[in-house]
Amino acid sequence: MARDHEHVPVLHGPALDALRIRADGIYVDGTYGRGGHSAAMLARLGEEGQLVVIDRDPQAITDARAKYAGDARVTIRRANFADLHDVLDELGLNGRVDGLLLDIGVSSPQLDDAERGFSFQHDGPLDMRMDPEHGESAAEWLARAEESEIARVIKEFGEERFGKRIARAICKAREQAPIERTAELASIVSEAVPGGPSPKHPATRTFQALRIFINGELDALDAALEVGIDALAPGGRLVIISFHSLEDRRVKRRFARAAKPPPASRRLPTVETFVPTLKLVGGLVTADEDETQANPRARSARMRVAEKPAGEGA
Ligand SMILES: C[S@@+](CC[C@H](N)C(=O)[O-])C[C@H]1O[C@@H](n2cnc3c(N)ncnc32)[C@H](O)[C@@H]1O
Repeated sequence: MARDHEHVPVLHGPALDALRIRADGIYVDGTYGRGGHSAAMLARLGEEGQLVVIDRDPQAITDARAKYAGDARVTIRRANFADLHDVLDELGLNGRVDGLLLDIGVSSPQLDDAERGFSFQHDGPLDMRMDPEHGESAAEWLARAEESEIARVIKEFGEERFGKRIARAICKAREQAPIERTAELASIVSEAVPGGPSPKHPATRTFQALRIFINGELDALDAALEVGIDALAPGGRLVIISFHSLEDRRVKRRFARAAKPPPASRRLPTVETFVPTLKLVGGLVTADEDETQANPRARSARMRVAEKPAGEGA
């Protein structure tokens, strides 16, 4: 079991195998977290290898510095992985990366720390920013957003069918007093959602939706998929672990668009000229039973792998 403030890396073995670490290769861990995957990558890298670690969360970066500031193979950058192109440009590594790992979403330390405001289980300020120094907190946004916009976010990013009801309840509650704590929001949502037996807390989907929206997670993923392909060396691999069907669908579609010609149509007579920028490596990978028993978080993990064709885009 994970102890508090630890993060058990998900799909650890399959992700490492998919990255096919070469001792002298160049790798990027775009979601350092607490460095579970990074540590395993470094264990396979030799002295000539390089690992760039990125996270937008200052606490993750503090952890990386404490562990790896003295390791000449490791470069640490606090950044949004959407800005990967700029990070790699500065290091002269665009087009030279042998493997890029993105293990997206929140880390256990982020969820467990009530002060970060991600959790309906631990009361804390309703913040939810992975980078608390930029952007608007969930409380600030909920205080000013239109009811229809709140409903849209909860429905779209939480796949919550009671989005309208929940938005109405939020707007009614904020007329009395601003919603500033996670426990307040959790109880407003629980009261708004019709009861019934469910293994999930009624606020699960709403918290997920707000977190994805506040952090612009889907836009960051879309951007990373574009710049990630450019970052790779021929034969380099992109390994993406996601935790929601919303994210996995985007990865699947972008990989397919890069790997397969569009379906033939009269409006696209140039299908023969299609040049793949990725080739798919296997299909969807999920955690096995041993892993899901040891780490319930692994239950929703979905991994996809693609490779830059050799000789392309070098
Ligand atoms: C699931 S955890 C990664 C855990 C890590 N693989 C480990 O083994 O410890 C996700 C991490 O990605 C970071 N993250 C999420 N979205 C990000 C983004 N757009 N840019 C940079 N970091 C991001 C979060 O701050 C969090 O630390």
